[in-house]
Amino acid sequence: MSETLKRQAAAMALAEIRSGMRVGLGTGSTARHFVDLLGEKVAQGLDVVCVPTSEATDRQARDLGIVISDLETLDRLDVTVDGADEIDPALNLIKGGGGALLREKIVAASSGAMIVIADSSKLVEALGQFPLPIEVNRFGLGATRRAVAEVVAAHKAQGDLVLRGADRQDPFVTDGGHLILDAFFGRISNPEALSRDLLDIPGVVQHGLFLNMCSKAYVATPDGVKVLQNRN
Ligand code: 5RP
Repeated sequence: MSETLKRQAAAMALAEIRSGMRVGLGTGSTARHFVDLLGEKVAQGLDVVCVPTSEATDRQARDLGIVISDLETLDRLDVTVDGADEIDPALNLIKGGGGALLREKIVAASSGAMIVIADSSKLVEALGQFPLPIEVNRFGLGATRRAVAEVVAAHKAQGDLVLRGADRQDPFVTDGGHLILDAFFGRISNPEALSRDLLDIPGVVQHGLFLNMCSKAYVATPDGVKVLQNRN
């Protein structure tokens, strides 16, 4: 059911893509549906150049015959289509459940528009039920972790700060070679201030709050796909 809904949202976003566009490709299971459907259109003659947000998406897109470029060659994209872990009523997001938040944010920020595709389980009243991914440099991990713990405590995190993958043999490593700390908030009352405070820590590379970046969301519900617009 959920995969069907994700594919429906992806199909709606696909209608936004026209020949000649430069398109950022997101990461995750919903974005994967979009790349699949885009591959079908490319096989039928749609002429687009794409910048992927992860090695996994890069591989998938190349396998489908989609033309891939990068942000050295193209410094501006028309649109990025990506998934999200949480979407609030103002279309602020938590992303990074798949660990691709840094490239996702760079690509989205280089795009004229960011379109999010999701099923309705991702809609929330306030961000923070999904653990916030915070990407950190490996160097100085202990000191960075302590500084991040202080910031998240000051922002009233209700749960632990967890090094992603620490419960397995090796921690999770991002495509950029960094680590991820997941912060369990429950509810983030001031995302803008939290964003600033996290980015003030030298070892923090990026975090998964995407504030005021998403212009439109296609959210698939059992009753059809809803279109949510950012009015700002
Ligand atoms: C990856 C992401 C994904 O877009 C997010 O985790 C949603 O994934 P899915 O579509 O599989 O639910 O931010 O870093």
